[in-house]
Amino acid sequence: MRIFLDTANLDELRKAARLGVVSGVTTNPSLAAKEGTGDLKSYRSVIQEIAGIIDGPISAEVISTDAAGMIREGRDIATWHPNVIVKLPSTLAGLEAIATLAKEGIKINQTLCFSVNQALLGAVAGTTFVSPFIGRLDDEGHDGMELVADIVKVFKEYHYPTQVLAASVRTPLHCTQAAKVGAHIATMPYKVLTQMMHHPLTDIGVARFLEDWNRTMKL
Ligand code: G3P
Repeated sequence: MRIFLDTANLDELRKAARLGVVSGVTTNPSLAAKEGTGDLKSYRSVIQEIAGIIDGPISAEVISTDAAGMIREGRDIATWHPNVIVKLPSTLAGLEAIATLAKEGIKINQTLCFSVNQALLGAVAGTTFVSPFIGRLDDEGHDGMELVADIVKVFKEYHYPTQVLAASVRTPLHCTQAAKVGAHIATMPYKVLTQMMHHPLTDIGVARFLEDWNRTMKL
């Protein structure tokens, strides 16, 4: 499973990049606004800076809600950098935009996916990635991971090349489970990435080895 960072924060991204495991980035209007990049010009420059840090797919999301607007924005976003992926929502208008832009060879991340049917239609229309939102489904009392597993199963069954990008990842357990059900990618906040590598027994073990070494050296 590939690891993407879900952020528009350049400091976090630089720290994460040093760990050598991040091969892509996802952003959305909320994450961009959080970093004060809530206008198109600064969103574009942040995406370009991100592309200079991580050499892999970088998702940038449209804000239009109608198909014509999404298509116009998507064509523009696709020119920002060769690694940019246009993020489009799982709506009827989004589906129309996916179909149009995919035919033009533009790579798409179908976002805000909450059902197998949405994922299925996106795959048929030619989306490159589909992003089921695990945490937000869990918030509503559903099982977000079950959706990821179902989409993986359906795509395998029909040999769709669309990759399943587990999103709205909130915990290290989400990462483990996403890997177990066969998600191609998990995108996560920096904090979750660091939590993935943490184990208290590792810390205790490191401290104990050091104590033993120091005791021996003093003898
Ligand atoms: O990857 C999608 C993500 O940005 C949404 O996460 O935690 O706001 O549901 P969250």
